[in-house]
Amino acid sequence: MKTIGILTSGGDAPGMNPAIRAIVRAGIFNGFRIMGIRQGYSGLIDGDIYEMNLSSVADIIHRGGTMLRSARSDEFKTESGFKKALNVLDVFGIDSLIVLGGDGTLRGAKDLYNAGVPTIGIPCTIDNDCGYSDYTIGFFTAVETVVDAISKIRDTSTSHGRANVIEVMGRRCGDIALYAGLAGGAESIIIPEVEFDIDEVCKRAIQGKNRGKLHHIIVLAEGVGNAYEVAKDIQDKTSIDTRVTVLGYIQRGGNPTSYDRILASKMGNRAIELLLEGKSGRALGVKCNEIIDLEINEALDIEKKFNLDMYNTSKILSI
Ligand code: F6P
Repeated sequence: MKTIGILTSGGDAPGMNPAIRAIVRAGIFNGFRIMGIRQGYSGLIDGDIYEMNLSSVADIIHRGGTMLRSARSDEFKTESGFKKALNVLDVFGIDSLIVLGGDGTLRGAKDLYNAGVPTIGIPCTIDNDCGYSDYTIGFFTAVETVVDAISKIRDTSTSHGRANVIEVMGRRCGDIALYAGLAGGAESIIIPEVEFDIDEVCKRAIQGKNRGKLHHIIVLAEGVGNAYEVAKDIQDKTSIDTRVTVLGYIQRGGNPTSYDRILASKMGNRAIELLLEGKSGRALGVKCNEIIDLEINEALDIEKKFNLDMYNTSKILSI
């Protein structure tokens, strides 16, 4: 009987649990032995590994976070840590590995594959920063959380006639800000992919105010500017009272949306199918609503394309 190890690593994402459930259930259905590796690559190095059964994944399809827990492991990036990981896989008789996480995690999966471990990568991150996949598991749940927050902040923004800067996550990718900004009707979206011009943000606020708008929502992707400084500049230049909300880790939790549960279930099942077909070194993704798999080295070289049309649409619609 073949043994498959599963791990989740890096920032957690809503949808990791339904993906784990799919891998365990489809894996056991197809006659594999499944080993859960706790706390990502750290747990792999430490041998924090146990055998999973059908009941191990009961009642998790709707839960955020990851039942296998997660970590960011610096040791795995060292030569000795990497060797330890290879040794542990050998000791536990793990023949192949399914790795769930964002860009850094999938690069770890690629290294393991290049070192001879049959590995499959599943993109799970709220950031949606994978170039080879239209969407990553967890992204739309995070967008829903942000849209809900924007709607609530918009209520109070209107009551007080204020501007509100809302800082969202996304590391070096503006997709959370872009999608949530469009869905939430934000007046300005500040993202790493487009040069930031404070005067344009202020102009849009003044124009909106002059035509009777009471609220003004600015969605700012983390890292582009300091939310408090941006808010101060807006207030100084427009005289509109401006407040700040940093959404932070609230975006990483919560029940996965049906889209993320379905994507996770399909990708988990597909990962098992690939191993059954004797394929590995693949990264799973979704393109035009179809689950795809690409050679992992090539997949990770594909650059993320920015959706300029969507950005322009949002600008037109929120004048
Ligand atoms: O990778 C997802 C992400 O949420 C980023 O958007 C954010 O910058 C980062 O993780 C924060 O991670 P940590 O858990 O290390 O603080």
